[in-house]
Amino acid sequence: GPTRLADYRPTDYLIDTVELDVRLDETTRVVSRLRLRPNPLGRAGAPLALDGGDLKPLRAVLDNQPLDLAEVATPERLTIAEPPRRAFTLEIETELDPAANTRLEGLYRSNNTWCTQCEAEGFRRITYYLDRPDVMAVFTTRIEASKEEAPILLSNGNRVEAGEAGPGRHYAIWRDPHPKPCYLFALIGGDLDSIHDEFTTASGRKVDLGIYVEKGKKHRAYYAMQSLIHAMRWDEFVYGREYDLDVFNIVAVSDFTMGAMENKGLNIFNDKYILAVAETATDADYARIESVVAHEYFHNWTGNRITCRDWFQLCLKEGLTVYRDQEFSGDQRSRAVQRISDVRALRAAQFPEDAGPLAHNVRPDTYREINNFYTATVYEKGAEIVRMLRALIGHDAYHAGMALYFERFDGKAATIEDFLSCFAEAAKRDLASFAQWYAQAGTPRLHVKGVHDAKAQTYTLTLRQETPPTPGQTTKKPLPMPIRIGLIGRDGAEIPMVQDEPWSAREAKFGVFELPGAERAIVFKNVPTPPVASVNRRFSAAVILEMDLSEDDLLLMMAHDSDPFNKWQAAQSLATRLMIRSTAAIRAGEMPEFSEKFAEALGRALEGYEGDPAFAAQMAALPSENDLARDIGCDVDPEAIFLARKALRDGIGRRLGQRLVTVYDKLHSDAAYSPDAASAGRRALRSACLDLYAAGNHADGADIALTQFQRATNMTDKMGALTVLSRLPTPTREKALDFFFRAHCQEPLITDKWFSLQATIPEPDTLARVKRLTKIHAFNIATPNRVYALIGAFANGNPLCFNAASGEGYRFVADLALEIDRVNPQVAARVLSAFRSWRNLEVERRAQAEQALKNVSDAPKLSPDLRDIVQRALA
Ligand code: ARG
Ligand code: ZN
Repeated sequence: GPTRLADYRPTDYLIDTVELDVRLDETTRVVSRLRLRPNPLGRAGAPLALDGGDLKPLRAVLDNQPLDLAEVATPERLTIAEPPRRAFTLEIETELDPAANTRLEGLYRSNNTWCTQCEAEGFRRITYYLDRPDVMAVFTTRIEASKEEAPILLSNGNRVEAGEAGPGRHYAIWRDPHPKPCYLFALIGGDLDSIHDEFTTASGRKVDLGIYVEKGKKHRAYYAMQSLIHAMRWDEFVYGREYDLDVFNIVAVSDFTMGAMENKGLNIFNDKYILAVAETATDADYARIESVVAHEYFHNWTGNRITCRDWFQLCLKEGLTVYRDQEFSGDQRSRAVQRISDVRALRAAQFPEDAGPLAHNVRPDTYREINNFYTATVYEKGAEIVRMLRALIGHDAYHAGMALYFERFDGKAATIEDFLSCFAEAAKRDLASFAQWYAQAGTPRLHVKGVHDAKAQTYTLTLRQETPPTPGQTTKKPLPMPIRIGLIGRDGAEIPMVQDEPWSAREAKFGVFELPGAERAIVFKNVPTPPVASVNRRFSAAVILEMDLSEDDLLLMMAHDSDPFNKWQAAQSLATRLMIRSTAAIRAGEMPEFSEKFAEALGRALEGYEGDPAFAAQMAALPSENDLARDIGCDVDPEAIFLARKALRDGIGRRLGQRLVTVYDKLHSDAAYSPDAASAGRRALRSACLDLYAAGNHADGADIALTQFQRATNMTDKMGALTVLSRLPTPTREKALDFFFRAHCQEPLITDKWFSLQATIPEPDTLARVKRLTKIHAFNIATPNRVYALIGAFANGNPLCFNAASGEGYRFVADLALEIDRVNPQVAARVLSAFRSWRNLEVERRAQAEQALKNVSDAPKLSPDLRDIVQRALA
């Protein structure tokens, strides 16, 4: 049955210390010596049940007394019926076959490097343990291996000893003084290259920094090192948090299910979030690396020093840490552009979750497979909740609350209630109804109406919120939310706000209004003429805004809103309206719409890029097909959406024509590549202009792209050009794709870009192409990055082909999920999550998708991971 939050109780036993002795080899032997004692909060004399995952036990000894394995151990559990009622020692030996571990959980081999992934429940695949985050112990780890195969031996904490261990072998002992849950355990053995640097903390502790990568890749680790140093400095500066060990190591491996892992003092990364030089990585890759390196580093305080009591509290560390990394990136780059891209990601990944059968609370109250809850809801919506909390209580109370949190819960396993109690105290306010954000699924809709009274010279905004039901939650409560508001005059100037009595001092000062319940009317005085209300600036509340703005209002905001987020939002809203109307027209057999005014406004925004080209590039990026499908909500016809969007893009490209080429030419630079945000912004806008121009069917579009492709000296410009070429069905496209592959087939991370590009070509024979690509040598279903690049891109980034009316796109993805399930269940579950919005489709596609899901659910021997997703999707 499912695990429930309401059933939480402390363990009956605690583990104080763990001594691991790991002999890495073809068959690896692990000896674990645990010092246990009864938990004063547990049941006296209760049996002890340690978790195991598919383990092969060799022996178990309790206080020097050998135990009968047949009696106490199964692969899944080691049970001691009557443990001593005092402290005792348990020594357990297990045998592992890391090379056969394709699940990439526990101890496995990636390109011959021995590595581990223990979150959430991987440690039990190494040895029997109380595998839950509220059991915190001090770990000492001895690793032994062949000197030749694994000259590098790493684990958590500080290295305290190293030496010879018989012919050809050596060992190292690592000790981590900070008690930690076992999900933060890590070890590495391999023949790796490394780069090193140093960081001195604010209080003068010298920290040795190391980044370890596969042989021949170390020149690609320097940007990650710089990012790490920036993150360490930022956490001291903004949160007063210093690093707490003498060493901080990062290891990049090429087989990794998720992005990265914050193991204490030894972060392990998917190498795509570490490796970058101009010739291999795009600007977007650099930005991701900066943010993921920071994210994992920030976990040292929000996650490791203070961990989660149980896995229901996952958002305690993830939502908070995502919020911290978003703010870090905002400080390193352009705040506005960062906010826009974070909101784009939230809407693309989290809103559909909230609107479909996989909807769940940010803090779930039940789960069958915890790995399926590492979701956009827990991470990204979790971050939005922290951001809203801060907006409601203000900067000072937020940081006072965080300081309390660090002081009070350091070294502990905490809950969301613990976290919120610190802010309630710091802000002197009750946060009980705010806490509902964690307990209620679904995206609130905020309905806003404005009424101008010419005689009284007032403008009244009425805000009303409502959250539609989600599976298992029919009635919803109103949630306290911060709404940042500004008023714009017809001349485009900001109208000063005159405080009304019911406003709080914060509201008057910052224009961030609180919606404490279901509804509120806000009266603005001294407003002689009807203004345009710019509501939810900076996307202050994570809601869907429903507001009746006219096209002229939106055009005014596009040109004049002082809030860059809403300036961008106005363009998105206008484009969305146009395309949704066109979608309906196309389905009715009529012509799509075009708006000269919108195209002109967009042209001006692109030409007026001086201040911030990255922002202009965001303006140029029209809402995606998935964005439109989500906004349409039901009876979705992905083909009509595709045609509607194509019509608008093509129309803009035709209408703006040479003006796009002018901006493109002006942004050309001969300077050497630098990944900084300003240079990246210019490249982004340049690519966006080329993309729109080529969409306009100009005879020379392909030539310009081909020239850029051939001359590019960095991957960003090369991929920008190849993306444009890949959307033009010409022989040039195939030549360029072949050329690219031959140039880069030695580098899997670049081949992945080539896979994704082809998987997202919106043409009828793309599925055949993707099927062909799954058969080539460079593809491998056992490597998560390959699967995400080809299958993930097809299922999530090619709505036209995935949703082919024949159902063959669905069948292909569902069959592959079944195949992957036998290799790596977590990856299979992620692949199948592409079906999360199937119920919103028009009736025929819905039937096809349902049948594909049923085929999965009827298949024999599903993993718990895949079964959980398919059952919830169909429920
Ligand atoms: N804690 C990691 C991070 O967000 C994610 C690891 C999750 N891994 C998993 N297999 N569920 O940084
Ligand atoms: Zn995280």
